[in-house]
Amino acid sequence: MSLVFTPMTEADARAILAWRYEGQYAVYNSPDAALGHDFDPLVELLDPGSPHFAVRESNDATDVPPLGFFGYGSACEVSAAETQGLATPYLLRPDGSATIGLGLRPDLTGQGRGLALVKAGLAYARDHYHPTLFRLYVFEWNQRAIRVYERAGFVAVGQTSFTAPEGERVFIEMTRVV
Ligand SMILES: CC(C)(COP(=O)(O)OP(=O)(O)OC[C@H]1O[C@@H](n2cnc3c(N)ncnc32)[C@H](O)[C@@H]1OP(=O)(O)O)[C@@H](O)C(=O)NCCC(=O)NCCS
Repeated sequence: MSLVFTPMTEADARAILAWRYEGQYAVYNSPDAALGHDFDPLVELLDPGSPHFAVRESNDATDVPPLGFFGYGSACEVSAAETQGLATPYLLRPDGSATIGLGLRPDLTGQGRGLALVKAGLAYARDHYHPTLFRLYVFEWNQRAIRVYERAGFVAVGQTSFTAPEGERVFIEMTRVV
């Protein structure tokens, strides 16, 4: 599968925000403003300062809904502690490292397709942004994602938690050499 990254359009962003994961993965569904989040996910997906891309297969037409998305930078950080003192949005941290975020369309999960998405997102960043290190945050319970990240070369380096409107959230921090 050859994957193509195109800068997020509003139509793509709206399609992605309408995705609905089931069960425990519902925590990845676009947040409900009523829960008190202080950011607009549509604005975040469209902000070129912390860029996001719609991902399709190379032979897909551009009006085919994306099969996934990939983001880089401040929008992919999970707690204020990491971004303290930094002006946002940003693509790379001052040390040159890139924090990434990604997702497969809900109906495509659990079929062994995630690794290709992760590898393609790392390759895109190497070509375009030249980061010094890759970093991601993943819920501690999300073994499906952690297996894919480990397979892509990521290693757990720490843990971070914060209290979201929905309650306490614990994330594993993983990094990978470029
Ligand atoms: C995270 C993601 C990229 C993983 O890709 P994927 O293609 O769905 O994962 P795979 O199908 O390759 O499964 C990975 C492993 O987890 C296992 N697995 C599948 N479903 C599982 C489940 N519900 N619980 C535990 N393990 C599971 C698979 O068997 C596989 O292990 P194996 O290769 O050793 O057999 C993808 O699921 C996704 O984008 N999900 C969106 C929500 C999400 O979890 N986001 C993470 C953001 S940090």
